[in-house]
This record gives sequence, structure tokens and C-alpha cells, in this order.
Amino acid sequence: MLEKLPAVFKSCRPNIVDPTGLVLPAPESRAYVGGADDFLEVGNEFLGYFKSICNLKPDESLLDVGCGIGRMAIPLTTYMGGTARYEGFDIVKSGIDWCTENITPEHPNFQFHHSNILNKAYNPGGRLPAAQYRFPFEDGSFDFVFLTSVFTHMLPVDMEHYFREIARVLKKGGRCLITFFLLNPESLKLIESGKSTQAFTYGFGLYKAVQKNNPEAAIAYEEAYIHECHKKNSLNIQAVHYGSWCGRGEYLSYQDIIIAQKLG
Ligand SMILES: C[S@@+](CC[C@H](N)C(=O)[O-])C[C@H]1O[C@@H](n2cnc3c(N)ncnc32)[C@H](O)[C@@H]1O
Repeated sequence: MLEKLPAVFKSCRPNIVDPTGLVLPAPESRAYVGGADDFLEVGNEFLGYFKSICNLKPDESLLDVGCGIGRMAIPLTTYMGGTARYEGFDIVKSGIDWCTENITPEHPNFQFHHSNILNKAYNPGGRLPAAQYRFPFEDGSFDFVFLTSVFTHMLPVDMEHYFREIARVLKKGGRCLITFFLLNPESLKLIESGKSTQAFTYGFGLYKAVQKNNPEAAIAYEEAYIHECHKKNSLNIQAVHYGSWCGRGEYLSYQDIIIAQKLG
């Protein structure tokens, strides 16, 4: 979830070392990914899903699209072996710089890339439209691709292009995990009754947004449309795990999670 994006994002604040020895960015530096207080907790939660629901193995190749400031990468360093390949890219340069300075030296198989892509919420000065960005990786090069809280900040034309790129870089039989705010009868009813943690007030056809003039701050998509995006790209949905964001009583995580496999 997007919290307040600092006007000038500083990555130079002192790092924190957690009791197990993991180096974490300072709370002020990591606030823009929405995880100042529960940064490590959320990373560990998703590492659990990667292993238990997505069957991630320690020697696989994985791509973290919109990797932020290492919230997923840091816990992954405790699980992935030396022969694994981790690639992450993001549009906020300071987060990539932090990861490159603080993760890669100890884990050279963890590589981070900056792409100067436009996003009104995260990189308003970005030069490249996301819909024209080719991921800098070969076809069929990853066993696993994941996006945590990224399509919750991207417009349909950009997201549809990213779906094509995800399918392109995944190996046949490879898996992806993507988080969303999904609009369906249950979540719409909860939003209308004021139970949702996100005020998705403004309707734009296939999606609703919290901010009228800056929809990329938080976007919820029609669930049927998201299923169609997977299907069009031969990404066969294996499971949908609904989240607590809209105020539902039974959930797995905060956002909705979709797991899919690229058809062979
Ligand atoms: C809420 S943060 C989540 C970051 C990270 N995935 C995590 O879970 O910690 C959303 C991230 O999406 C990134 N982002 C937004 N648009 C993007 C795009 N077109 N390509 C790659 N990353 C993007 C932002 O820069 C930001 O780091």
C-alpha cells in the first residue's frame, strides 16, 4: 500500500541490523513501499508463500518486478542458494541503490536494476512509459516471477504490457505470484459499506482508485478483467487467495494474491 511518498527520498539514513543479523533500510528510507513498521514481517510472510504455495526451490531463477527497497529480497537471501539467480528492477533509483550497496556485495547472485519509467505516484519525472518497457531479460529465463503491491499502482495499458512481459520471460511451466485489490461482489459490497481500509471511491471503468487525480496511488481492478489478462497470456490461474484489505473476515494476507503457471 502506498503511504506518503517523501518529497526527497533519502537512502543515506543509517541502516538497521535486526537480531538475526539481517541489514535493513532505515524506517524513513523504506516508508515509500508501505512497510516502515512491518517491513521484515511482510517480507518473511511472502517468503513463506513463495515456498509453501509457489513451491520455490533454493536453486531457482526469480524475477522481482517492482522490487522496491528489498522487502522481498532480504528474506530471500536467507533461503536462496549460491546457484540461484535473483533479478529485481524498480523505477525508484534510491531503493535500487540501497539494494545494490547493501545486498549484492554479500549475495552477488542478487542483482538490482533501475529503469527510469514514468509512474505518477512513484516516479513522476520518469522518461519511459511502462507500456513500452521491455524487461531486460531473455525469453523463458525465469522459473518464478512475482509482483508484490505493484499492479496496485499501475494503469491498465501499462499492466497489460507487463503481463505480456511476465509471460515472455517465464519458462514454460514457470509460476508467478501477483498481488491485487480485486473488485468482485463481496469486496464491492464491503467498500460500499465503509469496511474497506482503502477508499476506492473513483470509478474508471475497469478499475477504481482512491485518488481521482493520481489513480496510481492505489488501484483496484475488476477481478474478471484480471482473470482475462492472465488467460490472454497463457498464464493459467492455480489459486486466488483473497485478502483482508476490504474488511472480509477470512483471508490469507492483506492484498489479494493470484498464483498462476505459464502453460507449456
Ligand atoms: C508498494 S511498493 C512495493 C515494492 C515491493 N514490491 C515490495 O513489496 O516491497 C510499489 C513499487 O512499485 C514500483 N513501481 C511502480 N511502477 C512500476 C513500474 N512500471 N515498473 C516497476 N516498478 C514499478 C514502485 O517504484 C514501488 O517500488
